[in-house]
Amino acid sequence: MTLRLDYSNMMISPGGIDRITWANAGQQFAAAKRGFDSLRTGGTVGFVDLPSNNTLIDQVTRFSAAARGKYDDVVILGIGGSALGPIALRTALRPSGWNMLDDKARGGYPRMHVLDNVDPETIAALLGRLQLSRTLFIVTSKSGGTAETMAQFLIVHERITSSKLDVAKQMVFITDPRQGALRPLAQRLGVPALDIPPDVGGRFSVLTPVGTLPAALIGIDVKSLLEGAGAMAKRCETGDLVANPAGVYAMLQWLADTKLRKSIAVFMPYSDPLRDFAAWFVQLWAESLGKKRPDGTSVGSTPVAALGATDQHAQVQLFMEGPADKTVTFVAVKERATDMRIPAAFSDVKELGYLAGHTLAELIDIEQRATAGALAKRGRPNMTIDLDRVDAQHVGQLMMFLEIATAYAGQLYGIDAFNQPGVELGKQFAYALLGRPGADDAKKEWESLPKSDPRWTV
Ligand code: PA5
Repeated sequence: MTLRLDYSNMMISPGGIDRITWANAGQQFAAAKRGFDSLRTGGTVGFVDLPSNNTLIDQVTRFSAAARGKYDDVVILGIGGSALGPIALRTALRPSGWNMLDDKARGGYPRMHVLDNVDPETIAALLGRLQLSRTLFIVTSKSGGTAETMAQFLIVHERITSSKLDVAKQMVFITDPRQGALRPLAQRLGVPALDIPPDVGGRFSVLTPVGTLPAALIGIDVKSLLEGAGAMAKRCETGDLVANPAGVYAMLQWLADTKLRKSIAVFMPYSDPLRDFAAWFVQLWAESLGKKRPDGTSVGSTPVAALGATDQHAQVQLFMEGPADKTVTFVAVKERATDMRIPAAFSDVKELGYLAGHTLAELIDIEQRATAGALAKRGRPNMTIDLDRVDAQHVGQLMMFLEIATAYAGQLYGIDAFNQPGVELGKQFAYALLGRPGADDAKKEWESLPKSDPRWTV
């Protein structure tokens, strides 16, 4: 029932982490953990405590119970941390092809769509398909002011009002309890609003109503999700590095990057339900750790999403023989929701005969182990997260494990894992170009930039 991290292939020689470095890691971890614990006790970082936040759990339980049977479609308007968590949960914890199943196969729960972009093609197509009176729009924004989400909101709001429907029945907001434009707007429009606690940022918010409300609405077992996350948070309370899975993961990735120049962290589940989970992890790791330290040096390893066995035929060649600048984290799954026996036929054909009698679950599992072994044999460090199965309990564990690991890694790198100053300048330029008040300095800076030069255009 518990997640296991096998990092034997990180300790390979040559190519891996040497014993002396690892022996010294305990002390470095102790300092990193102290740093993280003081952020928690200081009240600036709250995601670890979400599994026991009964106020949020009650908000979600009440809203989802009242919504049962009223909607055929749930549409999330949100981007980044407001979108990737719910997508990962739907793909992991609902049957494959959820939105294509009929009402009966979905157990009467609604379809779920996530508009995580502002490409008009997608938005127009989805809005054109929906029956608005049977649709709930969840507007999710921690800051309550993100341009993309606000634009989506304005479009949907207009559609609802021009269809003479009640915005308060077709919308719910998920946002900071105190800050941002959405909170007062909720009051003005009479739209219900659920909370993202002030000490939980976007990419760490999947266990707030950001993830748990859509999950509950489509029938995911939120209680087990939070139980799994809580159990992992407990496992990670220890200051003993080798007993703390998130500590081990953060330390290995940090050492691999800073001592072995493995600046790319591949995340490769061998499981279709975890395909979108990899994208969630990529954002978590990238936006949290790609930072400038106070001394001006840039740090952070680059996360890359891959999927096994599919990417054995796309990216694994690079992982095996390309630059030795990567770690690979596999996720292996012991029991699948279903399995299929490969039929015995054409036993005289070499390429087919040997597959007979095996199952697809066996095949994908053996391929994972074979790839991990092959990488290790070539001196390419890798590790495997073993899950008994992809259910709400294990997904909760996995999410909390990676969130805590990311927070520890932030401490090891000596950066603030919870801000994202690097996205600010681009936002300011966009505001300037869109004519948002207060963007005058950005406008001047934009105008002083070199312009596109016909000599360098083809
Ligand atoms: O992790 C983050 O903080 C960001 O990726 C945000 O989730 C993203 O920018 C969306 O922000 P908001 O939820 O404030 O609309």
